[in-house]
Order: sequence, then C-alpha cells, then structure tokens
Amino acid sequence: MDLLYFLIYFTIGSCTIIYMFLRKIYSYWEKRGVLHVKPSFFLGNCQEFGKTKSIGQILREYYNKYKGLAKYIGFYLFLRRSLLVIDFDLIKNVLIKDFEYFTSRGMYYNERNDPLSANVVYLQGEKWRKSRNELNPCFTSGKLKHMFPLAVDVSNQLIKVIKQQQLSTPNEDFEIHSLINRYIIDVAGSIGFGLNCNSLKNPNAEFKIMVHESFKPPHNIITFSFMSIFPDLSRKLGITYYSNNVQKFFLRISNEMVKFREQTEVQRNDMMNLLIELKNSDKIERLSMNQIATHAFTLLTGGVETNTSAMSFCLYELALNQDVQDKARAEINKVLTRYEEELTYEGMNEMKYLQQVFNENLRLHSVFSLTTRVCTKDYAIPNTNHVIEKDTLVIVPIDAIYHDPEIYPNPEQFDPERFSADEVKKRHPMANLGFGEGPRICVGKRFGTMQIMIGLVMLLRNYRIMPTSKTCVPMQYKLNKLVTEAKDGIYLKLVKI
Ligand code: HEM
Repeated sequence: MDLLYFLIYFTIGSCTIIYMFLRKIYSYWEKRGVLHVKPSFFLGNCQEFGKTKSIGQILREYYNKYKGLAKYIGFYLFLRRSLLVIDFDLIKNVLIKDFEYFTSRGMYYNERNDPLSANVVYLQGEKWRKSRNELNPCFTSGKLKHMFPLAVDVSNQLIKVIKQQQLSTPNEDFEIHSLINRYIIDVAGSIGFGLNCNSLKNPNAEFKIMVHESFKPPHNIITFSFMSIFPDLSRKLGITYYSNNVQKFFLRISNEMVKFREQTEVQRNDMMNLLIELKNSDKIERLSMNQIATHAFTLLTGGVETNTSAMSFCLYELALNQDVQDKARAEINKVLTRYEEELTYEGMNEMKYLQQVFNENLRLHSVFSLTTRVCTKDYAIPNTNHVIEKDTLVIVPIDAIYHDPEIYPNPEQFDPERFSADEVKKRHPMANLGFGEGPRICVGKRFGTMQIMIGLVMLLRNYRIMPTSKTCVPMQYKLNKLVTEAKDGIYLKLVKI
C-alpha cells in the first residue's frame, strides 16, 4: 500500500514539476510584452514540424504573417525561447554590426569526449574565433586556385562513372542527389584528407559510409533541446554529438595521413598540407593532431550535405528550364574556347551567367531555411524598450526572405536574371543570405561554389540535362531535415552532346 501511495505522489509530483517548468519556459515572451503566438507544450511554435511542415515552411508562415506588423516576434523553437527577426536592419545588427553580442550559434559541442564536435560550426566565443582564424587562410583565392585541379580531377571521374553507367544500363535515369553526393564526398576527401575516397566508383566505399553515419541525427528532439538548453550539464554528463565509430574513424585517417606526409615529405596542394604547416609553424599556436582532424572534418560536416543539395537542385532547375541551360552552356563553351578547352580557375570566374544560375538556385531551394545566433550578453534592441537577454536564440529566416514577393517578385519562378550585378545592387544586402553574413558567414562559400561550378561545367559541356517521367514537379521536400533535400530523390536523364 505504501508503495502505491509513493508511486501516486511521485507521479503527481513529477508531472507538477514538469508542468511548472514548461509553463515558466512558455510564458517568457508574454511576461516581456513581446508579440508572439501561443505555444504548445514541448513543441512550442513548431507543432506541425515533420508531420505536415518543414521548419522553413513554419518560419515562412510567421514571417509572412507578421512582416509589416512587427520587426521581430517571440518564438519557441520546441523548448527553446527564440526571437524571430523580420526587420533587415535588425538582422544586419545581429549578424554584422553588433556581432560581439551574438558570437555563438547555439549548437552543442563536447571537446573532451567528442573532439570532432569542437569544430568551427559549433564552437563559440574565443574558441570559435581562434578556430576560424586557423581555417580562413585555407580558403583564400590563392589557395583555392591551387586546389582547383584536384577538384577537376574528381569531376573527370564523375564523367567517367556516368559513361560507365550509361554503357551498362543505357535507359536508366540518374538519381542525381546520390550521384552528386558521391562527387562532393570525393572532392572533400581529396582536399580535406588527401585521400582518394573512391565513392564515385564504389558507392559502398568506407569513407562515404562513415560520412553518412556522421550525418545521422544521434539524438531525438528532447535530447537535442536538453543539450542546447543545458550545454554545461550535458558536457558533464559526457553526452557526445558524434558516435564513437565516427570519431575513431576520422581521427584515425587524419592521424595516418599526417604521419605519412611527415615521413615521406610528400607535398600536395590540399587543405591537409596547409593544416600540417600550421601544426609545425612557429608563427601561431601549433595545431594538435585532433585539431587537424577536426578542421579537415569541417569540410565534411559543413560542406557535404550543403554542396550536394545546392548542386543537385541546380541540375534539376537546369533540366526544367532548357532556355537557361542553353544560355549557360553557350557561355561555358565560349569561355572554354578562350582557354583552349581547358577548365581553369580564371575561366570559371568569367562564367558570370552560370554564377547567376547558381545564386538563383540557392534562392529558390535555399540550402538552409534559417541561420541562428545566441545572444551572449544582454542586447538592447535599438529604438525599442525590449532587450534580447543572454542565452536567447535569434533566428534569421533565410528562406522566408528568399520567397518574399516584395523582394523577389513571383518568387516561385526560376529566373537567374534576378542575380545580374544591377539587380543585386537594388536589393538590401540582407535579402541574400544563402551563405549567411558577418564574421560567421559560411567559411566554405568560395570553396563550395568552386566545387559546384566545376561539376556543373563538366556536366553541361558533356550532357544535355533532361527531366524524365520520374522527375518530381513541383518539388516536394523532406520535412524533417535541416539541409534542404528532395523528398523522393531527383531523377534526371543525361543525354550525351
Ligand atoms: C552551397 C554550399 C553551401 C551553403 C549554401 C552553405 C551555407 C552556409 C550557411 C547559411 C552558414 C551559416 C552562416 C551564418 O550563420 O551566417 C554556413 C556556415 C558554415 N559553412 Fe557553409 N555552406 C555551403 C558550403 C560549405 C562548404 C563547402 C564548407 C566547407 C568548408 C562549409 C563550411 C561551413 C562552416 C565551417 C560554417 C560555420 C562558419 C562559422 O560559424 O564560423 N560550407 N554555411
């Protein structure tokens, strides 16, 4: 009987504590008089997430509803109190002008138990700044120019693999997302780790399997929220982001490559070489073996899903817009003729129309629907009596802005002319946030663009890209992904020119 009473009291007590805790969280904006929508328990303002809507669709609806009425609204990203910023000048303050208040992205890392998670995407404050300063020099135009031929080598592999597949199964469509994913992984493996990963030739290559494992969400939404709200406690509890397998694998291959290069004195124009130079440099604090692995891993964690998404949607739009494809191909051929049919870094930079196609694709199928900052010290919002308090998550709705008809008329239409130099000048700089902005702007912006442009040039000069009966129009997206991805793959036909 005593046990029964104990269980009843315990259950009632626990439920009351949880209820009080959630009530405290969800009354935050109401208490501060900030415009907001009533949240539901546990899911906050994301009730439909994953079931009927993606996070991008949810944010778009709030943005459209409140634009013109408010510069920002209180928002609950599941359990996390957040401020959804609508006004471009306030977005600019958060990302650029008053960046010192917003140096964190609000993501969890655990340096001790999970060194790979302590990468520049997740780090904050001084640790982030140091890591970013080590990475920035790897992506200057001089360094990219040296890396360029390595990426071209992989793009030649891509064409070979397409040829082989067409010989063995001539009538089969290509599932573009998985094909491009293998190309992107092989470039990242070659430039980051100095490895020939071979995933184009062998879709079951170990490197590719481990990259995919690193993208599998290791936790459910409750644990994610817990890690994000109580990062210090989560670190004390030893919660890791990446699995043991993933950590062991990437630390091992990076260590082996460092040792091999040091023993053989082999030089290669890749990122691994630059990182080894930093390890042995007298000028800055030297990199440890784990830091080298973590930096090389950034190319995978930051670059693989993003580049795959951007490049495959680009091919999809080129297939649906044959006039755009013809114009892009004509430009490619013209530039290549000037460079004796060789694809060079300089030639690529002259392909302005292809760059417009790339930018318009990023607008229409924005790789990330949002970016975030966490307020690291109280910030008084200019010309208001509201304060963004420390630890509040600030959400910048990239995709909602990209689909705002007042900025991009007829937003569902694919039109690369929107990104001609003259058109870009007419818009607020915060209208184009596909790579983010400010000191935490995407570190791989130029590297990613280069890798995709190379792939597009090679494909367009060799093939006409065509839709097939299996191509999904209009596009349907996966609802529960952070990086935008087609729901049922992207099927296209590649016809030899
Ligand atoms: C088309 C491809 C890509 C897109 C659309 C993209 C987009 C973005 C966006 C929106 C952010 C957040 C920026 C912000 O919060 O202001 C970001 C951050 C980042 N991206 Fe990319 N990215 C791409 C490719 C890459 C590649 C290839 C790399 C590999 C080096 C990379 C590495 C990173 C890193 C390390 C960060 C975090 C930077 C920091 O916090 O300092 N990205 N990216």
